[in-house]
Amino acid sequence: MIIGVPKEVMCDESRVSLTPAQVRSLVDAGHRVLIQEEAGSGSGIGDEAFTRAGAATVLDARRLYGEADLVVKVKQPLPEEYDLLQPGQILFAYLHLAAEPELTDILRERRVTAVAFETIQAPDGSLPILAPMSEVAGRLAPQIGASHLEKHAGGRGVLLAGIPGVPPAQVVILGGGVVGTNAARIALGMGASVTVLDILPERLRRVDELFGGRVVTLISNPYNVEAAALRADLLIGAVLVPGARAPILVSEDIVRCMKNGAVIVDVAVDQGGTIATVDRLTTHSNPTYTVHGVVHYAVPNIPGAVPRTSTFGLAAALYPFLALLAGAGLDEAAQRSQGVAGGINVYRGEVCHQAVAGALHLPCIPFREVLGREARA
Ligand SMILES: NC(=O)c1ccc[n+]([C@@H]2O[C@H](COP(=O)([O-])OP(=O)(O)OC[C@H]3O[C@@H](n4cnc5c(N)ncnc54)[C@H](O)[C@@H]3O)[C@@H](O)[C@H]2O)c1
Repeated sequence: MIIGVPKEVMCDESRVSLTPAQVRSLVDAGHRVLIQEEAGSGSGIGDEAFTRAGAATVLDARRLYGEADLVVKVKQPLPEEYDLLQPGQILFAYLHLAAEPELTDILRERRVTAVAFETIQAPDGSLPILAPMSEVAGRLAPQIGASHLEKHAGGRGVLLAGIPGVPPAQVVILGGGVVGTNAARIALGMGASVTVLDILPERLRRVDELFGGRVVTLISNPYNVEAAALRADLLIGAVLVPGARAPILVSEDIVRCMKNGAVIVDVAVDQGGTIATVDRLTTHSNPTYTVHGVVHYAVPNIPGAVPRTSTFGLAAALYPFLALLAGAGLDEAAQRSQGVAGGINVYRGEVCHQAVAGALHLPCIPFREVLGREARA
């Protein structure tokens, strides 16, 4: 296969989907890898390192998309990239289509095969390609919240750790999965008082055990969410229903009653956000806006702030699935791996993922059915 790695175009996005290590393995397996010039520079990987590993560099994104059978990138295509997508091409990336109706239409119209990193599930239900970026975003969230709680940044002027005689800040985390536990770890390490809410008791049990009871755990229901949000200095949104739009757990009325100068870091903004007033995306260069006196941080590519760490984590996690897709082709890869099968969001103009289709009010035609239909035609 010809595998194309474009330079990311999203604002302040310096990650790249592969490092020279994965390029070498792909080339050794007989594939051709095209890297857009400067694609790795933001992560500290020069073109020469890629070419030494066997890739060919391409100046122009149009040429790269034109030649590649499979495009592997980090973030979903932005409008300026839409007309680069080729019919029948496999697009392998974070897509978050439940929150991207326009992109979904484009992928359907152009008959792109869209395989989303974030809906690839391991047999135990974990999300192997989302996990490393959730670890990064979770670990960054308290650090981001702490800096925005400073007075000059618009926050209420609270130090996460407090000091002897003055209590620490209250950090409330909605969701006790990968983002939530990693956020709890760092917030606890920074000296905050931490509460985690989840709908699954087993998640809370795990958080309780992991932190030796030093984190307060609460079942997530409207009553507990409201009470916790109202006492939060820092509220972190970290819920996920795989493939679906994030559920809104905190209404505008609750935000209105939150402490003045409190900070919301809605990590789940990439799936549409879990706080009602998180109604827009922000960027690393201009990361916050304020509603009802509460600072809102809604950056959809938080790991882009630390591209060197993130690129190496992401590339290693996606590689086994990429190697399977490139080596066996989509059909065979989906046969062999439930993970790959669950990653297929759009195929030949149809939405194949139940939760994505549900969020966008579109019919869901399972991949096998589309394949069978094409074979009969
Ligand atoms: N903004 C970014 O840069 C960025 C980076 C990484 C991950 N994310 C996003 O962060 C979110 C969380 O990812 P994750 O890897 O931690 O997912 P995860 O599946 O590991 O954890 C999600 C948790 O949310 C819980 N949950 C679901 N509904 C809930 C509810 N109503 N109340 C409370 N908890 C509920 C689930 O039980 C689960 O424990 C996702 O939307 C992911 O896409 C964003």
